Amino acid sequence: AQSLRVGIAGLGTVGASVVRLLDQQKDILAARCGRAIVVTAVAARDRTRDRGIDLGGLQWYDDPVALADAPDIDVFVELIGGENGPAKKAVETALRAGKSVVTANKALIAHHGEALAHLAEERQVALSFEASVAGGIPVIKTVKEGLAGNRISRISGILNGTCNYILTRMEKESLSFKKCLKQAQVLGYAEADPTFDIDGYDTAHKLTILAALAFGVDVNIGAVYVEGIRSIDAFDIRMAKKLGYRIKLLGVAERSESGIEQRVHPTMVPDDSPIARVMGVTNAVNIQADAVGELTLAGPGAGGDATASSVIADLADIARGLVSPPFGAPAASLGRSIQEPMQVH
Ligand code: HSE
Repeated sequence: AQSLRVGIAGLGTVGASVVRLLDQQKDILAARCGRAIVVTAVAARDRTRDRGIDLGGLQWYDDPVALADAPDIDVFVELIGGENGPAKKAVETALRAGKSVVTANKALIAHHGEALAHLAEERQVALSFEASVAGGIPVIKTVKEGLAGNRISRISGILNGTCNYILTRMEKESLSFKKCLKQAQVLGYAEADPTFDIDGYDTAHKLTILAALAFGVDVNIGAVYVEGIRSIDAFDIRMAKKLGYRIKLLGVAERSESGIEQRVHPTMVPDDSPIARVMGVTNAVNIQADAVGELTLAGPGAGGDATASSVIADLADIARGLVSPPFGAPAASLGRSIQEPMQVH
């Protein structure tokens, strides 16, 4: 079979990991997909930076939109980030050109997911964003495919590694908020603008993507109540501990009588609950559903290789010929299922 030709826009931590892992795991991927997945072109601004990977023989583009439109790639991988600007333009260009798109860009999907899903469905190509939520945890596949036969009542979790890392170190080492944030930035967990992490917007982006998948509601960041961890200090953490709780930044989407409620805020969780035990940059998602009951997934929420693992999972689906509606239901039906009757147990 013909190789799947991949063009990657954005060669930061995640992009470099994708290039390296696709090479490192090429045998196992070819065996699983029945064909090779090969990076043939990249778009990045800096051609000289040493990324610790071999970029020889690849076609270079300065402009991600030009890469998205290149006739000799089958899939466009967007790892630029940002809700508007070049990322959006490039993704639209690729979809319009009939190419499947894989992206890790939660801001883009949270703001424009529905419109992009319409475009992908029209062209019958994939728009996949496993890496956009909870880094390496395959939570999108779990909700979209694994739980397709369930009515979900609640989905909640720790969706920002930076915040959980900060809260963990503040508790364990009695360090200041500022010092812990610095450390998270040095380790590469934080967003370019860390206010997205600490003020809860990164969590909100991810939550609204999960809510659309779980409940069929619109992807609508405006529907989320958002409060971050900026105002949490060492005293709050000590007090919570004394009472038998830990403070976690949670994103919660649940069925209520008035519809689907979506909210992000620091939450006191009993210190013996599964979510409370999740420390450091780890993320965790808890799902309550009628057939399966309850399940919790935990794993790395950020970092190059872990996030690349999710990007590659999407590429593997595409290599296998799998194309499904981006949100698990036709884009035209999003926003309707709020009216579904509630399940009474
Ligand atoms: N800044 C994000 C986090 C990266 O800390 O979780 C992964 O989306």
